[in-house]
This record gives sequence, structure tokens and C-alpha cells, in this order.
Amino acid sequence: MTLASPAIAIHVLAAVIWVGGMFFAYQILRPVAGQQLDAPQRLKLWSGVFRRFFPWVWLCVILLPITGYWMIFGFLGSMSAVGMHIHIMQGLGWVMILLYLHVYFAPFRRLKEAVITENWPEGGKQIDQIRLIIGINLSLGLIVVAVAAGGRYL
Ligand code: HEM
Repeated sequence: MTLASPAIAIHVLAAVIWVGGMFFAYQILRPVAGQQLDAPQRLKLWSGVFRRFFPWVWLCVILLPITGYWMIFGFLGSMSAVGMHIHIMQGLGWVMILLYLHVYFAPFRRLKEAVITENWPEGGKQIDQIRLIIGINLSLGLIVVAVAAGGRYL
């Protein structure tokens, strides 16, 4: 065993937790919550769900680049020695991380405030923003995982 095994293991676990969590929230919980709950309950639910999910996403967005560059510079040679699939992963990975930071510091912060002040129309606007961005990030995440896993065979 070399140090490459913990690096790839942590990297893939972080990807699974982040992308899998977005898949569950977007594809499974969102339609059921939309069908069954009125705006106040729905917004309180999402505020609570994101409060629990986002600390995990913070951990993932810190660990993914650390372990990624650890592999590139520690075991794979250098940036110029790695395949195109790694460049695509790195580029889309940073787009995903920036979109997450935007969600966290802008609409999520405003959603929490709207829930505290019971401003449901404002909360609805913020949740629409979050849904749009998480939809984009989920699509990017699925593409990144497919490219990361399949890219070496191209
Ligand atoms: C942010 C910068 C990132 C860098 C520098 C990076 C770098 C790397 C490197 C060097 C590998 C090893 C590839 C190999 O040994 O052939 C890897 C694998 C992988 N990465 Fe990333 N990565 C990044 C972001 C992400 C993101 C955001 C995701 C998913 C959300 C992701 C998912 C994966 C997966 C699933 C693998 C395993 C592929 C396999 O071995 O089958 N990576 N990454």
C-alpha cells in the first residue's frame, strides 16, 4: 500500500457524499416535500436539511482539492503528466466548489433569515435559487464522476 490509496479513498468518499447527497435532496426529497408540505413547513424543512447537509459539503469541498492535488503532485508526476480527464475534473470541480460557496453565503443565508422572520415569499425566492444551483451542481457532479471513472480508458 502506498499513500495513494488513502488519498483516492478519501477523494472518492467525498465525491460520493457530496454528489449522492445532492441526488437524494434534488431527485427524491424535493418532489415529495413539494407535494406534501405547505410553504412554511417546506421552507423550515429545507432550512433544517441544509443546516445538516452543508457541514458535510464543507468537508468534501476542502478534501476533494487537497486529495486531488496530493495525487497529482505526490504520485502522478505533475499537472502536465496527467490525462485530459483529470483536467476536466479539476476545471468542473472548481466550478462546483464556487457554486456551492455562492449557495452557502447568499441564498442559504437569506433562507435562514426568511425562516426566522417567517417571511415565506422571500424564503420561496431563495429556495428557488438554491434549487436551480443545486440542479446545475448535481448535473456537473454526475458528469465529473463519469469522466473521472471512465476518462482513463478514452
Ligand atoms: C477540485 C479539484 C480536483 C482534482 C485536482 C481532482 C483530481 C483527481 C485525481 C488526480 C484523481 C485520480 C485519477 C487517477 O488515478 O486516474 C481523481 C479521481 C477521482 N475524482 Fe477527482 N479531482 C478533483 C475534483 C473532483 C470532484 C469535484 C469530484 C466529484 C464530485 C471528483 C471525483 C473523482 C472520482 C469519482 C475519482 C475516481 C476515479 C477512478 O479512479 O475511477 N473529483 N481526482
